[in-house]
Amino acid sequence: MPQLEPAIADTLIYNISIATMSDESLPQGEGKTAIAIANGKITWLGNIEDGPSAQTRIDGLGQWLTPGLIDCHTHLVYGGNRASEFEMKLNGASYEEISHAGGGIVSTVSATRSLDDAALLAESQPRLESLIKEGITTVEIKSGYGLDTENEIKMLRVARSLGKKYPVTIRTSFLGAHALPPEFDSKDDYIQYLIDEVLPEVHREGLADALDFFCEGIGFNRDQCEKLCHVAKKYDLPIKGHVEQLSNLSGASLVAEYNGLSVDHLEYLDEADVPTLKAANLVAVLLPGAFYSLSETKLPPIQAMREHKLPIAIATDLNPGSSPIASLLNIMNLACVQFKLTPYEVLLGVTRNAAKALGMENQIGQIKLGYDADLVLWPIDTPAQLCYGMNLVKPTMVIKRGVIKTGVLKADVLKAEEKVNE
Ligand code: NIG
Ligand code: FE
Repeated sequence: MPQLEPAIADTLIYNISIATMSDESLPQGEGKTAIAIANGKITWLGNIEDGPSAQTRIDGLGQWLTPGLIDCHTHLVYGGNRASEFEMKLNGASYEEISHAGGGIVSTVSATRSLDDAALLAESQPRLESLIKEGITTVEIKSGYGLDTENEIKMLRVARSLGKKYPVTIRTSFLGAHALPPEFDSKDDYIQYLIDEVLPEVHREGLADALDFFCEGIGFNRDQCEKLCHVAKKYDLPIKGHVEQLSNLSGASLVAEYNGLSVDHLEYLDEADVPTLKAANLVAVLLPGAFYSLSETKLPPIQAMREHKLPIAIATDLNPGSSPIASLLNIMNLACVQFKLTPYEVLLGVTRNAAKALGMENQIGQIKLGYDADLVLWPIDTPAQLCYGMNLVKPTMVIKRGVIKTGVLKADVLKAEEKVNE
């Protein structure tokens, strides 16, 4: 198997099983598989007997190593909560009814606007920490609760600052077209305002890695979303879309026309559209947390996606309304139980396919030579154990770009090292 330089690695982890999530197979053999890391990258994979020397050697104690998990669709920067709407929903109100009554997304907009950067950061941190504790090393965060220049910029700035504060890569998406803010009467006027004022400023400050929109009756129609796609092209921003969640407005085919990165939700996607999405090289991002929290019953056309080999990613959609769930591992369970995906499909959905949904498929999401050493060690006998329950499994070690990040686990590592040195 080809290897990369240098001959002396920073870290070598041996006595592990590796779920590479790549197409390349690894030499098998009980306890023999090993990985070497140098300068934050994966530089060697193979049988420990052929391994390079390394400054730090870690006994993986027979555990499983996976790529760092990727949550490719979240709205985790926001203010307040929507517990009162939860009670309305329990009493039979639908997501759309709550929105028409002035609740829903716009109620989170007021809460988010009322916070300054520091307070918004403080409210958002625990949600990100909860993901990080589960071995998530890359998170996408959307704006969309500011809905004016000042507050959209504030949200994106806070999202970027989370990436500086924590051992996690943050990718941001500008979701100005999430809902109509109260100061506008016309959706067309608001879209024009986004195009003329908000997006240019977001672009000037380099705060967005992608553009997203909510193509839906309670969001924006296809023509309005298309105007944004057109401008996104000008700024070289890749496109993602909240599409076909509650109805079918053909938002997915719009993202395909503009060669976007991903189409997200998709419960109401027409299965005849699946080949078009595949041809446009898109990823279908499924969000079982929203399906569950909104008590949806219509499933996305998963069998057609499988038949056409459309890559499927899974994400939390972590937000205060439709998916108040700060756990990707729990969402992975929902993806199996509710969407009937296999544990392997789900693991692909939070690694390799999630990386593709962010345009990062050549850097993260697989254990492969030259890829970032974003790695998680799990105390499990089989990868399916990551999906089969809730709150049963936590990582024993998380490595972000080659650096071991988890304090508790460091003790284990040292113990393992002592054993090696004996
Ligand atoms: O992905 N569908 C639109 N946006 C979010 C929900 C946001 C909210 O309810 O606050 C979603 O489900
Ligand atoms: Fe969402």
